[in-house]
Amino acid sequence: MHEYMLSLQEREIIPDNWYNIVPDLPQPLPPPVDKDNEHSSIELLNRILPREILKQEFTFQRYTKIPEEVQELYAQIGRPTPLFRASGLERFLDYRGKIFIKYEGATITGSHKINTAIPQAIYARNEGVKGVVTETGAGQWGTATAVASSFSGIKAKIFMVKVSFQQKPLRKQIMELYGAEIVPSPSTETKFGRSVIEKRHDHPGTLGIAISEAVEYALEHDMRYMLGSVFNSVLTHQSVIGLETEKQLEILGEEPDVLIGCVGGGSNFGGFTFPLIKKFPEAEVLASTAEEVPKFTHGDYKYDFVDSAQTLPSVKMYSLGSDFVPEKIYAGGLRYHGAAPSVSMLVKTGKITPSDVSEETVIDALRIFARTQGIVAAPESGHALATAIEYVVSHRNDRKNIVVNVSGHGLLDMSIFDR
Ligand SMILES: Cc1ncc(COP(=O)(O)O)c(C=O)c1O
Repeated sequence: MHEYMLSLQEREIIPDNWYNIVPDLPQPLPPPVDKDNEHSSIELLNRILPREILKQEFTFQRYTKIPEEVQELYAQIGRPTPLFRASGLERFLDYRGKIFIKYEGATITGSHKINTAIPQAIYARNEGVKGVVTETGAGQWGTATAVASSFSGIKAKIFMVKVSFQQKPLRKQIMELYGAEIVPSPSTETKFGRSVIEKRHDHPGTLGIAISEAVEYALEHDMRYMLGSVFNSVLTHQSVIGLETEKQLEILGEEPDVLIGCVGGGSNFGGFTFPLIKKFPEAEVLASTAEEVPKFTHGDYKYDFVDSAQTLPSVKMYSLGSDFVPEKIYAGGLRYHGAAPSVSMLVKTGKITPSDVSEETVIDALRIFARTQGIVAAPESGHALATAIEYVVSHRNDRKNIVVNVSGHGLLDMSIFDR
C-alpha cells in the first residue's frame, strides 16, 4: 500500500477512512427535494450517479473506508500534501502567532479537486460505463476529471463556462492533453444550452448552466455525471485534506485556533475544516467568499436549485438564486450561486463566520504570498489568504495558530495580474 515514493511517516498521514460530518451536525440535514411530482430529480440522481456515490451521498455513517486503489492513487498524485509554517508571511505581517498553510496546489493537477475525481471515476468505471461528463468553471475541476478518467481508462467530456474558456486557454490544452473533450458552455450540444444562447447570444456562461448541460448530456449518452462540489459525498472525499492536517499538526505538536478556507460550492472548505471542527470544536472558522458573489452575507438560507435549469434537486443552502449571473471575476471557482448544505447550516448556526473579500484585496494577498513564500496561489485560494491577512492585521498581538487551506496554485491563472 502507498508504495509511491513515500516515507513511512508520509504513508501514515494519508487516512484510511473519509469523514462525513452529517451525523455530527447540530441539526438533521434537510434532505434534497424534487421540483415537483412529475420531474423527480432524486430519480434522476439514481440514473446519472454511480451507485457507490449515491450511497455515500445519503449515508449517516461517520467514516467510509477509502478503497486501496484510491489510496494508491492519492499517493501517486502527491498526497499527503504539505503543511508548512508560513514564516515569511508571518515576518511580513509582523505577526506574533503562527500561520500554517495546507497546500493543495502540490497535487499533480494543482488543486484539491483531484481528491474526489479519483474515487468518482473509479466508481463509474466499475459500473462499466464508457465515460463521464461534467462542468468546469476555472478549469481545475475539469483538469482533475480529465486525469482521473485517464487513470481509470474511461472518456471524459467537459462543459467549460464560456468566460473561463476564453480567459484560460491553457486550461483547455491541459485537459485535452489528458484526453478529455472540452466544450464552451452555453453550447449548442444540448437543448438547455441552445435555449440559453437563443435568449442571449453572448452569454458568458455560469456554473449553473454548465451543470445543466452536463447532466442533460449524461442522461442522453448513458454516461455518469461527476459531482464537482456542493454534494455531501464530495465533501466527504475532500475530508482527506482536514484529516491529513490533523495528523500533521499533531506531529508538529500544534493545535489550530483559527481555520480559514475559501468557498465556491464548499468542497475544499468543508473537506479541510470538518475533521478539524470535530477534533477542535473551540476553533474559530472563517469562510472566505468573493464580495461579488456574497452568498452568505446577501443570500437567503432556503431551498434552492443546484443548477439553473432546475434539473438537479433543490437543497437547503445559502443561495443568491440559481439564476444569479455573477460578475466576470477571475476566481471562476467562486462564481457559484450557493454553498453545500452542511457548510450553509454551520454558517446559519454561527459555527462558521463568513468573510467577503474584493478582487483587489485578493490580488494584493496573492502578491504578498508570492513574494514572502514564493508560491503563486490560485485566485480562489487568494480569497482565503486575503481573509487570513485581514484577520492577522486586526489580531496582530494575539498568539494564535492560524491554519489556511490554499486550495490550488495559480500558475495557469496569471491573467489576474494584468489588471
Ligand atoms: C483552486 C480552487 N479553489 C476553490 C474552488 C472552489 O470550489 P470548492 O468550494 O468546491 O472548493 C475551486 C473551484 O473551481 C478551485 O479551482
